[in-house]
Amino acid sequence: MKEIKLPVHLALIMDGNGRWATRRLRPRAFGHRAGVQNMFRICGHAFHLGVQIVTVFALSAENLTRPQEELDELYGLFRTFFDKKKDKLLELGARINVIGDLSALPADVQVSMRALMEETAQRTASLLNICVNYGARQDVLQAVNRAVALGRFVDDASFHALLLTAGVPDPDLIIRTGNEMRLSNFLLYQAAYAELYFSPKMWPEFSRRDLEKALVNYASRSRRFGGLRGKEQA
Ligand code: FPP
Repeated sequence: MKEIKLPVHLALIMDGNGRWATRRLRPRAFGHRAGVQNMFRICGHAFHLGVQIVTVFALSAENLTRPQEELDELYGLFRTFFDKKKDKLLELGARINVIGDLSALPADVQVSMRALMEETAQRTASLLNICVNYGARQDVLQAVNRAVALGRFVDDASFHALLLTAGVPDPDLIIRTGNEMRLSNFLLYQAAYAELYFSPKMWPEFSRRDLEKALVNYASRSRRFGGLRGKEQA
């Protein structure tokens, strides 16, 4: 891919795993397994191209209302990839940061997630945020409550510091697959000026080439952050 302006922070809503499997007359779990494989493929390619931060929506707070059988399948995938097959995550070369309320997860999964965060804590070249039992409204509310408890008024910078993404620059580009055009409680505060890209493809079939197309599209956009930039400015 030729040199283009890349997002520093790319966020991914990996939607459509279940539908991809159902259309193939396979159980939803088959789609989630394919979704994880594609997460490695796409995150690896993004880092390879020079994106520094990738944030993936692996499990929303609202997803916890899904049938226990599906949740157990997802917890099983976390168990596998944060423990037995953690090399797949380690090979991405990034610092791994799990974001969300981990207390609702099985204890052994919490332990392996914390261990992997610690193991990669010294890595500085790139960062992979994995959002698990994450909800943006819940995050905003916990930040507000912390500010109140501290007896502080906040501004944008000090509010950012209370969010679960503290220290991470806002996403430049959010890609959602699965032919849905909404943010579904993902990074709502941080997404104020994110560029949005929606793909009709289901996540397991979103390819490296599709990622490159999204990045080229991002590079063509004029980001004005509410001001006047470029041609319009006299
Ligand atoms: C939404 O698609 C996606 C999820 C609920 C989970 C996505 C999670 C992964 C790909 C696994 C992450 C794993 C690790 C190890 C970090 P859906 O399957 O609900 O799609 P649907 O709308 O077609 O039902």
